[in-house]
Amino acid sequence: MSNTYYRDEPVALSLDRAPACPLDPAPSLTALRAERPIARLAAPEGAPGLWVITGYDLVRRILADPRFSSRYETHYHPLAGGHLPPAPVGDLTGLDAPEHTRLRKLLTGKFTVRRMNLLTERVTEITRERLDAMEQQGPPADLVEVFAQPVPALMICELLGVPYGDRDRFQSFTRVLSDAGTAEAQYAAFAELGAYLRELALAKRAQPTDDLLSDLATSGDLTDEELGGVAAFLLGAGLDTTANMLALGTFALLRDPAQLAGLRGDPDLAAGAVEELLRYLSIAATGMRGVLEDVELGGRQLKAGDTVIIAINAANRDPARFADPDTLDLRRSAAGHLAFGHGVHQCLGQQLARIEMRVAFPALLTRFPTLRLAVPAEELSLRTDPSQVYGLHSLPVTWDRG
Ligand code: HEM
Repeated sequence: MSNTYYRDEPVALSLDRAPACPLDPAPSLTALRAERPIARLAAPEGAPGLWVITGYDLVRRILADPRFSSRYETHYHPLAGGHLPPAPVGDLTGLDAPEHTRLRKLLTGKFTVRRMNLLTERVTEITRERLDAMEQQGPPADLVEVFAQPVPALMICELLGVPYGDRDRFQSFTRVLSDAGTAEAQYAAFAELGAYLRELALAKRAQPTDDLLSDLATSGDLTDEELGGVAAFLLGAGLDTTANMLALGTFALLRDPAQLAGLRGDPDLAAGAVEELLRYLSIAATGMRGVLEDVELGGRQLKAGDTVIIAINAANRDPARFADPDTLDLRRSAAGHLAFGHGVHQCLGQQLARIEMRVAFPALLTRFPTLRLAVPAEELSLRTDPSQVYGLHSLPVTWDRG
């Protein structure tokens, strides 16, 4: 078999993770990265060319290259067997310039230092309140339900200025959305939440308060539909991600007592630890881009109309970029990781997500020095659907009462 023939042979891809190593990327991605960091996937008859990218340098290059489109309608989805529908109004991740640039600029101008400072004060209070509630309720507890989900949900309430009287209602929708309930229940909660956010956004136009949504509402730059859409998108982008980082990050720490002890003993480690957890867990595991024109990449010829699947989790474990990449090492420099993406779509909420995690992990570990899993690790319910961010449906924990 000639080398060229071998390199062109399309591969079948499985995104299934190994049950014994649930925090590592799928073994098939790891194997591909070693052999072919850009590989052609076997595609059904009539489908455009499909590629999977697992090498750090290539993933980073694609994310910074405007010839690779974020517009969903350019993405052929192998599981759906067709192209995706265009992005809903307000969803920045599904747009290219100039539509993306316009919305991105508007939003960037509202994630101000002042706003982030206000949110830093609130996250400390919200975290303390949730830990008090967890302590009062007593062990065992589902950490997702009592802590990992409510902290970011309440922070989104702060960001959007959801009135206190509405927060229980808001939280009940978001709880349904993030659990493993029926599709019907999720769909209903999603519709109600969307309607609620549209109403809220319009109320902010009439009566602005001190929050990001009011800033957007009064800027005069967004239509009503865009305003409601952006609010819903911010909720979608900021809640599930941060909640799953908190839950999966806690699991990663609980299964690694030496790293856990290091963080507990040294609160100054929190900022670096959060970057390493982001890299190691890479919960936004894969992304897609549509190829707009013929491109040569990594020695391969990609054609206009092809689709690339970007394995961010494999890239963040690339030994060519990070030494000993499969080891969680809270003291390493994980700078340059791609867990928040890269290029023009790089996460707009990363500062907020960092603020939440830097406060929440140490506070949880300090409040509950004996925190541990309440069930064997093999029984945990992981989010295995590759279209979702990776994480846990629930995380049963227990502790000794002080
Ligand atoms: C640990 C938590 C988070 C992770 C891992 C994460 C991850 C990401 C990633 C990978 C992207 C890029 C998507 C792409 O290139 O297609 C992104 C975009 C985005 N994220 Fe986050 N995110 C997190 C938290 C947040 C929070 C808290 C917010 C705000 C409330 C937020 C708002 C956004 C927005 C608005 C975008 C779109 C940016 C654009 O397309 O220009 N994210 N995020």
